[in-house]
Amino acid sequence: MYQIYPRSLRDTTGNGIGDLNGITERLGYLADTLGVDAVWISPFYRSPMADFGYDVADYTDVDPLFGTLADFDRLLAEAHARGLKVIIDWVPNHTSDRHPWFVESRSSLTNPKRDWYVWRGPKPDGSLPNNWQAVFGGPAWEEDPRTGQFYLHSFLPQQPDLNWRNPEVVTAMHGTLRFWLDRGVDGFRIDVAHYIMKNPDLADNPSAPPPPPEADFKDLAEYDEWHHVNDKGHPDVHAAFRGVRSVLDEYDERFAVGEIHIFDWDEWATYYGDDDELHMPFNFSLIWSEWRADAFRRRIESLEAAIPEHAWPSYVLGNHDEQRLATRYGSAATRPAAVLLLTLRGQPTMYYGDELGMPETPVPTERRQDPWGLRVHGMGRDGCRTPMQWTAEPGHGFCEPGVEPWLPFGVDAGVRNVDRQRHDADSLLNLYRRLLELRRERPSLRHGTIAMLDGLPPDVLGYLRHHDGERTVVLVNFSATEQPVDIDGATALLISTDPQRTTVDERPVVLGPSEAIVVDAT
Ligand code: NOJ
Repeated sequence: MYQIYPRSLRDTTGNGIGDLNGITERLGYLADTLGVDAVWISPFYRSPMADFGYDVADYTDVDPLFGTLADFDRLLAEAHARGLKVIIDWVPNHTSDRHPWFVESRSSLTNPKRDWYVWRGPKPDGSLPNNWQAVFGGPAWEEDPRTGQFYLHSFLPQQPDLNWRNPEVVTAMHGTLRFWLDRGVDGFRIDVAHYIMKNPDLADNPSAPPPPPEADFKDLAEYDEWHHVNDKGHPDVHAAFRGVRSVLDEYDERFAVGEIHIFDWDEWATYYGDDDELHMPFNFSLIWSEWRADAFRRRIESLEAAIPEHAWPSYVLGNHDEQRLATRYGSAATRPAAVLLLTLRGQPTMYYGDELGMPETPVPTERRQDPWGLRVHGMGRDGCRTPMQWTAEPGHGFCEPGVEPWLPFGVDAGVRNVDRQRHDADSLLNLYRRLLELRRERPSLRHGTIAMLDGLPPDVLGYLRHHDGERTVVLVNFSATEQPVDIDGATALLISTDPQRTTVDERPVVLGPSEAIVVDAT
């Protein structure tokens, strides 16, 4: 699955912002040049764009900035004609404060939609209803002068949280799913899925236990001072997702993946339910891992140990909220990271531009846009959201020459772009293409078992994928030095990140710096 941040793929209207027709234009690249099976498109709903579309003002329409419903229908039809599935973002935890539901809700204490959101009066001493914090900084409560009550917002004040305990909200939100399912979408990526159910008593969060020595997750600044046991992930969330799943199951072959940031693997795995909740929660653990063989192995083994029998794992190495992987792990890691993502057991999700090795783009202060970064120092996400780099020419195939893109182009866009890499057999883009092709050809990579290999040098991670007699061995050198590895039996090289390698006949096989190989060991 390939994630598209719609503002940044391709602008066809000359306003410097990507749009749906731009995505449709590039479906050939995605299906044929690269060869992915599905796209996930971040929100394109009507929105005031306080959080660039994660503040939805109408779940059943396209924002004019991105096009029209007819444009979406065309995108979907053309994607399906090319064999691509289309997954769209669904944002159930909060709406925009401009959503008509919230406009009604805030209008009076007695409005029929008052309870569609989470409203509370101040404590007797006039203070906030509780100590909950917003992820994007400051208290999670905003006072509304009209009624003197506060509303809950887990993110921006412009993103009031819906009250999923109100059955009318559930019905209305299920209706938004059916709207898109009826149009033919293949499924949903569910935004902050674990946030939708809170402790109904709205009890204070306790302060957080000290962080573990090797942080397994992103540092969220002040938000991390609290142990978030009451403001999200209440056990009632599972009934809510059983409800969502039953809507999906009214249709053939529809899919839901949840954005779930939970670092306790057993709790994380509960979101699969008994094969009656989400098809999978995203697994972000590798994003926050140091680029070290033992750290990756620990996370892969933790995932494999936690996952229920019926369930299928997922892997993510980048998205629109995280620093680009080429910067996070370093540019030497971009090739072996591609091998890992596309050969581990599970569904891989890749982020646009990572197939080119786009690094984080430095965005000058005056051009910064991300509300999180503007509110909390160091949390800006603009650097991973800059325009896709298609060509070396002015506009870089993203927009017409002379148009100012909404965020600056990467400084390397002249040399790091699709045009250049498409014609270079040894490029990272072509490595992704070959890995995707290999995955399609080899059932062991698609749905085989995984067993970690022991007895390797400490800087090398190795595993065996096995299905129905077909065996594929993957070896990844995380270090900048050569590493000798023993591989048992006859093998044939399928792919190496090193374009010079043609065989794995020598014993031991000496992996080059940052080299990853995929071999047939059948
Ligand atoms: C998670 C999304 O990935 C992020 O981009 C967004 O800002 C928050 N949820 C709030 O919707």
